[in-house]
Amino acid sequence: MTTVSPHDAIDLEQILSVSNTELHEVVHHVKDNADCIFTWNYDKGERPALNKLYEKAKHAQWNGETDLPWDLDVDQEAQAMAAVNTFREFTQSYDLGGTPFEKWGDKEWAQLNIEGSNWSLSQFMHGEQGALVCTAKIVETVPWIDAKYYASTQVMDEARHVEVFAKYLDTKMSGHYPINAHLKMLLDDIVEDSRWDMTYLGMQIMVEGLALAAFGFMHAMIEEPLLKQLLRYVMSDEARHVAFGVISLQEYYQGLSDAEMKERQEFAYEASIRMRDRFLQQEVWDRMGVNVKEALQLVVQDPGRVMFQQMLFAKIVPNCKKLGLLDRNDQWLRRRFEEMGVIQFEDWIDTGDEYEAFSLEATGQALN
Ligand SMILES: [Fe+2]
Ligand SMILES: [Fe+2]
Repeated sequence: MTTVSPHDAIDLEQILSVSNTELHEVVHHVKDNADCIFTWNYDKGERPALNKLYEKAKHAQWNGETDLPWDLDVDQEAQAMAAVNTFREFTQSYDLGGTPFEKWGDKEWAQLNIEGSNWSLSQFMHGEQGALVCTAKIVETVPWIDAKYYASTQVMDEARHVEVFAKYLDTKMSGHYPINAHLKMLLDDIVEDSRWDMTYLGMQIMVEGLALAAFGFMHAMIEEPLLKQLLRYVMSDEARHVAFGVISLQEYYQGLSDAEMKERQEFAYEASIRMRDRFLQQEVWDRMGVNVKEALQLVVQDPGRVMFQQMLFAKIVPNCKKLGLLDRNDQWLRRRFEEMGVIQFEDWIDTGDEYEAFSLEATGQALN
């Protein structure tokens, strides 16, 4: 992985030094450096927990085209005006004299809300494509038949996720954003790693763990019924995907040496820092025509934002604990999570135990 700043401080200079310079590329090539592994052991159910996930996944396939109420109108401008009240709280808490926001009125704050929604949903869509290619890679590289079977269902899940986010952006929002440069680097790092378990760690545990928390947060905050239902459907799959990572790596990590575990701890930490500090919507500020660095200097002080960033780790930390990643090598990752202010989540329920509560059947939502 590319080196990131080792300490807790947010380094805006470094963050802003990375931007997506390939805005017009239509395809992006990454070497995936991995052996494709066949197995001649076809004993289905040798790993019962994975087999159970696979059987559940077969019955949990929804259809984004027919199961979601696409005929609902989404008034993005009305939503943005409603959100301006929230921005007013922010503006009242700070003296904005001399800042890029000094002359902003409701119109600009509403536009910021619209751009922020377009940006967030675009990054969800790009991240979903990352999950699509990573799980296709896992089908090739994992040596266990039960895991290959399960991963193949996840490939189909992720295709549907890319599809529904793309359709929502195209038909209900007002513009796309290219992939954020930091997200792109993280996905590239995960795909490039030759070790099969690193695809799991990077995608299933870190990226999907964060996504599950982020989708949950957004699902709780929004009222727009189409997106709410879309997120609920996606979350029912994502919980299973994170569980797939936890169950698979729990077995594999039991056999790793301290040195091997240290590499995984460092990988998890570097991904955490990237995900926490790097996705600051820098492209949105740029599109709004304000000085990005000056805007971010204010944004990073917002206590609501700090709390949101911590909440994103509500799934990652307990899952890392269950995998034994927190405390190996003199509690190396525990210390890093303490520095980041996210260790308080360590005893929250892990997704290996929790995933069934997310299923659509569990909440009485019908699958057609
Ligand atoms: Fe997904
Ligand atoms: Fe997923």
